[in-house]
Amino acid sequence: MERTLSIIKPDAVEKGHIGDILKIFETNNLKIVAMKMVHLSTQEAEQFYAIHKERPFFRDLIDFITSGRVVVSVLEGENAVAKNRELMGATNPQEAAPGTIRAEFADSIDANAVHGSDSLENAKIEVEFFFNNQLAAL
Ligand code: CMP
Repeated sequence: MERTLSIIKPDAVEKGHIGDILKIFETNNLKIVAMKMVHLSTQEAEQFYAIHKERPFFRDLIDFITSGRVVVSVLEGENAVAKNRELMGATNPQEAAPGTIRAEFADSIDANAVHGSDSLENAKIEVEFFFNNQLAAL
């Protein structure tokens, strides 16, 4: 059993795809064990995406993820990290396999509908970031 962090980004929230995306997780054996809707501040977003701070797209990434509300979930299941990444599809929706979340709901590499932890190690850090004082209850 693994846990991974999922973020439904402002584009998908705004377009009304929260339910569609959660349904995909649930029908693919990823159980939602924690969830909240938040509007990240610039400071929170910069901390969450600190790993990308030297990348040329960092400012655009921060501007986009703080542009509206997001839905943050902890997903639990067998191989949850890899399973979630498979369901999301490639970062760039133009390269995402048909039937994946990004192929279906994303518009661009910035407005790409979802974020998912890229490793078990980062999943732990990301779950801690959003649900730090509630871990014992999960
Ligand atoms: P996400 O999984 O949230 O992780 C970092 C985000 O940066 C990524 O999804 C994309 O939305 C965004 N991004 C923008 N440009 C790039 C790029 N060239 N390579 C990777 N990620 C990018």
